[in-house]
Amino acid sequence: MEYKNIMFGVEGSIATVTFNRPEVLNALNEETMQELGSAMSECKQDGTVRVVILTGIGDKAFIAGADINEFVGKSPAMIMGFAELGHNVVRIMETMGKPIVAAVNGYALGGGLEISMACDMRFASDKARFGQPEILLGLIPGMGGTQRLSRLVGIGLARELIMSGEQIPAQRAYEIGLVNRVFPAEQLMEETKKFAQRLAGLPPFALRMAKHAINYGYDLALENANSLELQCFSQCWSTEDLKEGVAAFLEKRKGTFTGK
Ligand code: COA
Repeated sequence: MEYKNIMFGVEGSIATVTFNRPEVLNALNEETMQELGSAMSECKQDGTVRVVILTGIGDKAFIAGADINEFVGKSPAMIMGFAELGHNVVRIMETMGKPIVAAVNGYALGGGLEISMACDMRFASDKARFGQPEILLGLIPGMGGTQRLSRLVGIGLARELIMSGEQIPAQRAYEIGLVNRVFPAEQLMEETKKFAQRLAGLPPFALRMAKHAINYGYDLALENANSLELQCFSQCWSTEDLKEGVAAFLEKRKGTFTGK
């Protein structure tokens, strides 16, 4: 697919998607969502990609939500189609078996926050701002925000953010567990890439099993979730990387992991 609204590149084993509609603060139109879905499928299928970074162009916005220009004249069925597309894309992200890190460089509002929440981790610039402002338009989040925000920060704070539509700064997002790390704006990409590089050197199958156990186990009863963990844990035992990891530890050297 040819990308017009995002930039997509793979450097070594790290793929980077950069939302690239600065004139509307990287707001998500339908075409951008389709491109993101296509890029995520490419990342899932490409064996050389081990880690994915999502970020926004410039220093003002990660994504300022859905493109409100596209709301005009849309029927309920059309808007449902758009929201379904969004749900499908974040589903690809959550099931791709590779870590995705959001480098939140500015506003992460509405669908922007929702996309960042479908990533495995969120690193933020100290200038970033977070919120679910849909209520101010007479809407509610439509790409999983009502569910993922509660799961990340607890139902009380999720209610506050979704019902008030208020924005919070990066430091507050960090304090409530919405963001993993905060960096000065000019260091965000460098630090995110450094971290992605670390992840890229880890055993891919174990990372996949970790993501699988965490994401699929989260909504199960504890006993079933633990059973899922047991299966994922045991599957790691059949890999070459497990042998390499153990040998490297015993030989006091750094392991080299091939994904086998
Ligand atoms: N959809 C469409 N266009 C958007 C947009 C969105 N979600 N968010 C920003 N833009 C556009 C603005 O209309 C403006 O375009 P213009 O230059 O042609 O007037 C441009 O991006 C810059 O935004 P502006 O509002 O001038 O910047 P700001 O710094 O004053 O405010 C925000 C930034 C993010 C607080 C403000 O743009 C905003 O509230 N955006 C909407 C957020 C939202 O409700 N998202 C959820 C949608 S469901």
